[in-house]
Amino acid sequence: ARTQTPVRYNEHRSAWDLFLYADVHRVLKDPAAFSSRRGMEMRTENLLVMDPPRHTQMRDLVNKAFTPKAIGALEEHIRRVTADLLDEAAGRGSMEMVHDLAAPLPVIIIAELLGVPTQDRKLFKEWSDVLVKGVDENTEAAFAKMHAERGQAAKELSLYFSGILKERLTQPQDDLISALLAAEIDGKKLSEEEVISFAILLLVAGNETTTNLITNGVRRLTEDPALQTLLQEQPELVPGFVEEVLRFYPPILAVGRVAAQDVEIGGQTIRTGDQVISWVASANRDERKFDDADAFRPDRKPNPHLAFGFGPHFCLGAPLARLEAKVAAEELLRRFRDLRLADGAELVPIPSPFVFGVKSYPV
Ligand code: HEM
Repeated sequence: ARTQTPVRYNEHRSAWDLFLYADVHRVLKDPAAFSSRRGMEMRTENLLVMDPPRHTQMRDLVNKAFTPKAIGALEEHIRRVTADLLDEAAGRGSMEMVHDLAAPLPVIIIAELLGVPTQDRKLFKEWSDVLVKGVDENTEAAFAKMHAERGQAAKELSLYFSGILKERLTQPQDDLISALLAAEIDGKKLSEEEVISFAILLLVAGNETTTNLITNGVRRLTEDPALQTLLQEQPELVPGFVEEVLRFYPPILAVGRVAAQDVEIGGQTIRTGDQVISWVASANRDERKFDDADAFRPDRKPNPHLAFGFGPHFCLGAPLARLEAKVAAEELLRRFRDLRLADGAELVPIPSPFVFGVKSYPV
């Protein structure tokens, strides 16, 4: 598609597909021409679906908590949680990467940052999975069921958070929920609903994505045993390895926008109101941008992949996801030699056109 139809109208989805790096980059950096206010009828208001200036104000409230420096301070703690999860699994002699490490690690850490009890993590793992889950079959009944389940999960999650908010209002703690409750924009506090939808976004946006990043990394290691040896001998390459996993197997394949004005791209006219799908996964393999784009190179420098998006909506949680994936890879490589996919294991993809990952990965 990158060569034949780099910009095409997809009748099936009623949206434009963009496949070239330059076009994806252009769309993501220009919120005036390509708005994030898509599909608002079924969503609660959150950062992802806001445009500047409100987007900038809301994002400023949490930016500080997610800088590489602030997140870097968590490294030792993330390592301890990772080690505990691996120890727990090691006793059994085999591991299932998703269940044993890649799913629990991000949930534990984000729950701690938000300030919700980690013992409730099974609950929000269930809720957040339902909120991002797609449909297994393309039927009306399946979509209706998905919407009903999502509605129910969102309701339960809101109720759960509103209990936590009440506690934090009377007894603020050193956590993100307390910070959001205290925050003001132009002298005005956020409403309870705004704080809750912020908390839900942080919980949901970072879970499945980071789970898939960690699992996709392990997948790459097992597909190429020489890579395991290389990283064991040169652990300083691990951060570059994580970047290359993000480029090569991006957890989010595409991001959506809606045209806010008529724009010409690749000789086609995209009209105001048209949906636009920017295929990050294709941009990341664009040979016009990356030398030897289909080769996996942990020492690729620079590596301007678009796995975390670009521009004003660039992933807020990128430093956290990077750190968790780095620590997970380091701890796995330190403990295990010759990590292999279990014999006879069948890889079942996550059923969503925009997510790249598998449901389980036994090693
Ligand atoms: C935004 C990917 C982890 C929170 C985004 C966007 C992408 C992305 C592509 C941009 C969406 C757009 O432009 O419409 C990923 C990937 C992750 C990851 C691949 C893991 C590997 C996380 C984590 C958190 C997080 C751990 C939170 C702790 C957010 C938030 C936004 C966002 C709040 C919205 C930012 C905004 O609209 O200004 N992410 N993400 N993400 N991500 Fe992530």
